[in-house]
Amino acid sequence: MSFKNKTLGEFINENQHAFKYTTGELSSLINSIRLAAKVVNHEVNQAGLVDITGAAGDTNIQGEDQQKLDVYANDIFIRTLINRNIVCGITSEEEDDFIVVNSQDENHQNKYVVLIDPLDGSSNIDVNVSVGTIFSVYRRITPIGTPVTMDDFLQEGRHQVAAGYVIYGTSTMLVYTTGHGVNGFTLNPAIGTFYLSHPDMEFPEDGNIYSVNEGNYLEFPEGIKKYIKYCQKLEEDRPYTSRYIGSLASDFHRNMIKGGIYMYPKSTKNPKGKLRLLYECNPMAFIAEQAKGKASDGYTRILDIKPTELHQRVPFICGSKNMVEKAEEFMKEFS
Ligand code: AHG
Ligand code: MN
Ligand code: MN
Repeated sequence: MSFKNKTLGEFINENQHAFKYTTGELSSLINSIRLAAKVVNHEVNQAGLVDITGAAGDTNIQGEDQQKLDVYANDIFIRTLINRNIVCGITSEEEDDFIVVNSQDENHQNKYVVLIDPLDGSSNIDVNVSVGTIFSVYRRITPIGTPVTMDDFLQEGRHQVAAGYVIYGTSTMLVYTTGHGVNGFTLNPAIGTFYLSHPDMEFPEDGNIYSVNEGNYLEFPEGIKKYIKYCQKLEEDRPYTSRYIGSLASDFHRNMIKGGIYMYPKSTKNPKGKLRLLYECNPMAFIAEQAKGKASDGYTRILDIKPTELHQRVPFICGSKNMVEKAEEFMKEFS
């Protein structure tokens, strides 16, 4: 990367004018996420050297074992956002309820809420495979200066004002959108600065990668089974290649660059799907659409689903436009 590349800080400053009535609050918020991501990145890179791998000994509200790094990343992101006083509320995968920030302060003018999966793909930590962070930002709908309520978090995904993810991988990247396309920044670890490395990211309209946990195949809906068989069929540009990391942010990132589809359908074990609508599917769906891709539950656009609970799960199909539309055709025909 040459030093001609813009830094993330420069990019944020230059693009601030794109927001009407901007007060710089959203820019500060992205800056805080950038900072927290660097701290978490440092810790993730120590995995194996210090005692941070393995289970923390607790489960989250969804009954999943928390890893030490889940707890650590959750703590860093929440403390960074609270201490820098730039949000009015936070929802996290690792917290039972939403967090109200500064409800006592009547002058508190912050208007954004953040929803976050602090460490995505955490079962990959112990084996040195990429993990990530996923975040989503909304403007609150209740009046400024009052404590946030559940309604501020249960907004349809189409109302997001920003969303992004960080991948702690072979290199560390932060990819985000504020509704004006998608840009990717790579961390130069020697100097701790993110540089714009992937401007205007877009999903190829078509692709040849499908990403799904095929161990669950027998439990999938008929439409998904038929679509997987379609992907495997020997014809023209098929069979497609199967690639599944088990870390949504990383699987999504590869598919956005190379062209592909990611699926986490419902199954007997997970009758509503596994992935969480508010801090996994919605942010990824917003990024996908901004990158000319698509995201659906098989029938409905993810961004149009009205959430009813914080930790709601949803079937998720996301990626190159033509591939997602093909999967939807199979869902309609066979399910
Ligand atoms: P998390 O680590 O935040 O709980 O998310 C894991 C998610 C997602 O990132 C990944 O694609 C999927 O769960 C993997 O699930 P399976 O192991 O069931 O395939
Ligand atoms: Mn996750
Ligand atoms: Mn997680």
